[in-house]
Amino acid sequence: MPLRPDIIQTLRDEGAPIVILTGAGISRESGLHTFRDPDGIWARYDISEVATPEAFATNPDLVHHFYNDRRRALTDPAILPNAAHHALARLERDWPGDVLLVTQNVDDLHDRAGSQNLIHMHGELLKIRCLQCGQQHHWPGDLGRDEACPSCRHVAGLRPDIVWFGEMPREMDRIDRALTDCGLFVSIGTSGTVYPAAGFVQIAAQAGAETIELNLEPGHGTTAFDYCQYGPATLLVPGFVDQLLAK
Ligand code: APR
Repeated sequence: MPLRPDIIQTLRDEGAPIVILTGAGISRESGLHTFRDPDGIWARYDISEVATPEAFATNPDLVHHFYNDRRRALTDPAILPNAAHHALARLERDWPGDVLLVTQNVDDLHDRAGSQNLIHMHGELLKIRCLQCGQQHHWPGDLGRDEACPSCRHVAGLRPDIVWFGEMPREMDRIDRALTDCGLFVSIGTSGTVYPAAGFVQIAAQAGAETIELNLEPGHGTTAFDYCQYGPATLLVPGFVDQLLAK
């Protein structure tokens, strides 16, 4: 059931803050795989071997290979932001209130679409971090265990700037504040499997926000949402943004 027009009108009149959470599904039609669909990343790789600090400690070469593959896929010129990414950037520009986009995605498609009030809560695939000096660096190419940090020159201390399972997602205080202040929470293209992101809808709902899920199919937390619409993001999201902006 879509969001009612009278509710949208009230939200717009108030310039209600909006928090949007996105997951891998919003990038699927740009050509990037999701994680848990039948053709997803976790159907081909074991999380415990490539996406934990322990995996990096015991087999850094396999972890570097995993992220090098994903970096090469993302930097393919054919991989571009899609209509859903662009619609969210338009919403941030034209909405009469604050729009915070929190993405679980480590791709840069929201950035390339023009979203600025953006948090990559699980890190960024095109960045690396030095374990010696803590510096982050833009790094679109392959990374290996023998590279030197561009800042401190320390060798063999560089890791993907990704939040691995068991590590703390980024900017959680800022996200919590935004969830308790927002009038509308929108979840797009996520299975609602991984916490803390999967719990955002409850925080927003308890604070009195309207909540809507836009997804290809019902996610794990679908019953927590006031409203839901199902279909591909490139069809749902531009139309939803037009509704919000009364375009
Ligand atoms: N349009 C909209 N939704 C889609 C589309 C599409 N074209 N294609 C797939 N989806 C939906 C799927 O139905 C699924 O519900 O996107 C969701 C993708 O779910 P996951 O693969 O679990 O990805 P995500 O929810 O982003 O995973 C969360 O888990 O592995 C960790 O850190 C990783 O950030 C990731 C987190």
